[in-house]
Amino acid sequence: MRCFLRRSLTMAISLLVFLLIINLTPWTQEDSDVKELKQWAQDVGLNQLHADRNWQNLQRLGNDTNFLNVSYRYLAGVPPHKKKFLTVGLCSVKRKWSNYLLETLSSVFEQSTQEELQEMIVVVHLADPDQEWNSQMVEKVAKRFAAQLLMGRLLVIHAPSEYYPPLAGLKRNFNDAEDRVRFRSKQNVDYAYLMNFAANLSTYYLMIEDDVRCSKSFLTTIRKRLASQGDSYWVTLEFSKLGYIGKLYHSSDLPQLARFLMLFYQEMPCDWLFVHFRLLLTQKEVIRFKPSLFQHIGYYSSFQGTANKLKDEDFEEDLSTLPDNPPADMVTDIATFGNYLPYKAYSNMANFFWGKAPSAGNSFTIVFKQATPIFRIQIHTGCRQHPEDYLQAGLVELGTRKNRCDLHCASYTPIGLFKHGQFDREGLESSTASAPECVRIVVTKNQSEWLVISSISIWTKSGP
Ligand SMILES: *[C@@H]1O[C@H](CO)[C@@H](O)[C@H](O)[C@H]1NC(C)=O
Ligand SMILES: *[C@@H]1O[C@H](CO)[C@@H](O)[C@H](O)[C@H]1NC(C)=O
Ligand SMILES: *[C@@H]1O[C@H](CO)[C@@H](O)[C@H](O)[C@H]1NC(C)=O
Ligand SMILES: *[C@@H]1O[C@H](CO)[C@@H](O)[C@H](O)[C@H]1NC(C)=O
Repeated sequence: MRCFLRRSLTMAISLLVFLLIINLTPWTQEDSDVKELKQWAQDVGLNQLHADRNWQNLQRLGNDTNFLNVSYRYLAGVPPHKKKFLTVGLCSVKRKWSNYLLETLSSVFEQSTQEELQEMIVVVHLADPDQEWNSQMVEKVAKRFAAQLLMGRLLVIHAPSEYYPPLAGLKRNFNDAEDRVRFRSKQNVDYAYLMNFAANLSTYYLMIEDDVRCSKSFLTTIRKRLASQGDSYWVTLEFSKLGYIGKLYHSSDLPQLARFLMLFYQEMPCDWLFVHFRLLLTQKEVIRFKPSLFQHIGYYSSFQGTANKLKDEDFEEDLSTLPDNPPADMVTDIATFGNYLPYKAYSNMANFFWGKAPSAGNSFTIVFKQATPIFRIQIHTGCRQHPEDYLQAGLVELGTRKNRCDLHCASYTPIGLFKHGQFDREGLESSTASAPECVRIVVTKNQSEWLVISSISIWTKSGP
């Protein structure tokens, strides 16, 4: 199924690029930028998305500064003079029913500590063509969030409509009605201008929508996840399974992403385009974390007030006990089934490790990049979909004296047994003479059922 999806996606994007080459109708005069874009699209098409070439092409696209030359209107707030850790970006337009922008901003600010807020800037792009509505909204925002505006933690901007490409007579893809095409095309441009604006405000950029609730201290959770990623390659980290919510980027990728959205603005909705962008930049698999940090509050989507009850069941409001999971490699001699690779058991990815019937003596080892004190370890085996595939008998050991060459520890100390496939033990700080470098799960009995390791959580200190 996954394979099929990926193939379809690849085919879809090739087709799209082909259509684009035929159809690219620039909204400005045929200047050198547009020529370059056409060339790029052609390259992409010809190469059938050959990974390395495309990455370079996208990079080149990102270097060209003329394409998104917009004079933004600052509706409220002042840009910070110092680069922040995180920009939280969202667009808002007039809705037929309720508007949740103020609630969303309240949630962002109330769920963050003062320390977190110092490292964050929120950018709102009020993107309605109705200036009257934008003004009313700014007034409300200014009244309620005066302190945040003054402290440079909140910015409200607007990209004037003269910078927008045509939004009438667009291609009617996917059998979408004309107003639907218009809505989603404009939304792509709204996002492109927002991202283009935000590109050098911070190191990381988080996309949310104007109708979400945030979980407590989401910035700290994001920081922990980033630390767990170590220096592994990623383009998009996902902190929600919904639409264009909770998607994290390196800010340095934003110029390219903005251009990408502009280039394909009329082809498909943003929540498909961002998937193509990730694939083009060669991150093949979704990296989504559980629990989710953002939840829809809206019951109506911004498009024509159609009912939109999509909720993320993985959302958790309070994550004060979130594990630290230091960067690590995973090795196992249990035969891995398909794509259920060992790393998926670690750092609570929305996925799991799946191994074929393990035998006594098989092991699954987490090898830390650096020795680290360990306070608590919690391991779940089996999962809702495969309750039989739990570890029937096994133990957990802490390892020291890592061998730099073969990723193994020389010396192991047992710390406890699995009970009904679960392991949870704290107070481990003084279990080993030196800080552990490995955690090893050892299978102690042959089992004919397969083994799912659904999560491995490691805390490096006590308390939140
Ligand atoms: C883009 O610009 C950077 C810095 O100016 C440069 O190092 C890089 O080679 C450029 N990339 C391409 C593909 O032109
Ligand atoms: C951007 O646009 C302004 C006017 O709209 C123009 O003066 C300026 O030269 C442009 N900058 C670049 C880099 O093209
Ligand atoms: C963003 O980049 C521009 C141009 O390099 C610079 O003038 C501006 O000060 C930068 N803004 C921030 C917040 O770093
Ligand atoms: C456990 O499995 C291994 C390898 O599959 C086999 O060699 C061994 O005899 C089995 N042990 C028992 C007690 O069944």
